[in-house]
Amino acid sequence: MKFYIETFGCQMNEHDSEKMAYLLRVDGHIPVYNMQDSDIIIVNTCSVRQKAEQKFLSLMGRIKKLKDKKGVILGVTGCIAQQEKEFLRDKLPYIDFLLGTSAIHRIKDAIECSTKGIFFYDFTENGNPSSLYIKPCGMEKRVKAFVTIMKGCNNFCSYCIVPYVRGKEISRPSKDIIEEVKNLADSGVKEITLLGQNVNSYNKDTDDISFPALLRELNKIDGIERIRFVTSHPKDLSEELIACFGELSKLCEHIHLPFQSGSDKILKLMNRGYTISEYIEKINKLKKACKDIAITADCIVGFPGEDEKDFNDTLNLIKHIEFDGIFSFAYSKRKYTEAANLADEVPRKLALERLSHLQSIQKDITLKKNRAMEGRILEVLVEGKSKNSHEEITGRTRHNKIVNFKGGADMTGRLVNVKITKGYANSLRGERI
Ligand code: SAH
Ligand code: SF4
Ligand code: F3S
Repeated sequence: MKFYIETFGCQMNEHDSEKMAYLLRVDGHIPVYNMQDSDIIIVNTCSVRQKAEQKFLSLMGRIKKLKDKKGVILGVTGCIAQQEKEFLRDKLPYIDFLLGTSAIHRIKDAIECSTKGIFFYDFTENGNPSSLYIKPCGMEKRVKAFVTIMKGCNNFCSYCIVPYVRGKEISRPSKDIIEEVKNLADSGVKEITLLGQNVNSYNKDTDDISFPALLRELNKIDGIERIRFVTSHPKDLSEELIACFGELSKLCEHIHLPFQSGSDKILKLMNRGYTISEYIEKINKLKKACKDIAITADCIVGFPGEDEKDFNDTLNLIKHIEFDGIFSFAYSKRKYTEAANLADEVPRKLALERLSHLQSIQKDITLKKNRAMEGRILEVLVEGKSKNSHEEITGRTRHNKIVNFKGGADMTGRLVNVKITKGYANSLRGERI
């Protein structure tokens, strides 16, 4: 059968979709890139903010219409499925199967039941890490790949739904990860991104090797040229990990280190476990270990209790650090979370005003940083043809910046030196040398 997967949310969800697609292809199903052409539709959902939930509901309306016209199988997976399983089962009866965040390995059973008209529902205990063990490998030629190293999160930042929908932290054995990366290298993958909600606490409670030790092992694997990881929590970013940026040749000069707010008062209410001066100290150490490191982050504005001074503290932090890029969000109240009970909510309109103010300041900083790359010769891993021009190809620098330059698609998968000729707000342009 032909299947189509719509994915919302973070890289972990994207990778879960890849894993499901892999299992379906092994089983003889064929991926299609248009919902209308499919026999099976899987919606892999995110509940981190209300906006993602709204997008999901409007998509479900469209799928319902399609289902009325032709008999497609519809499955819902991911974080909304995990959080709202009873609601989805009882109120949206046109759904054929529901899989929780630890049960995606059951996709084949889910499809089999659905074809027989039997509703399938699996929310295996979050403690069961079997979804960690799927190794999507060898089905197609790829340049970059995600590798899951852990699932879940024990941090319970007061605004965040993730610990409720992904369960507690479980690390995957290092032996298994190393084997998967070796297989990926054999299949031609050059760059890997290690995935976890909080990779710094990898194997914190086990006898297996630490995260820096894992990086050192992966750095030895022939064929792999670049290693990245997401996401790091500032409170757990150790000296040993910081040192890796100066020592490991394949670890890229980029870290994503969310700060969430520039105000100590708000950080405390968010239950983040660090102060802004501690955050700045870690950034300084990172820059000392690796002078050229690019730094990106996440931040939330309009958290309950955030006043003008707190917001200004955030703006000051942004101006002081000069991040290469920031993913910024207006606070979204999530039921079950601790922050949902906090007083002093910031009116939505004000939160959105603050967000656009912050984004305009950051846009200038990102542009300045990208312009500072002009004239430099940077290594680019070619990912393929550029979307905007037939004559151009696209790739990323080790700093994770997108570069477009003239060249043929036959260069895909190669590491080439490119002289940067122009820095824009979202990308760089260059010429191969
Ligand atoms: N584990 C990662 C990312 C988690 S979700 C980390 O800890 O950094 C990705 C981002 O979504 C978060 O960093 C945060 O900035 C944002 N986010 C999470 N919950 C949110 C909420 N309730 N409202 C607005 N933004 C939120
Ligand atoms: Fe959410 Fe905090 Fe865990 Fe990140 S570390 S997933 S923000 S609870
Ligand atoms: Fe969203 Fe779930 Fe990721 S809530 S951000 S898809 S862990």
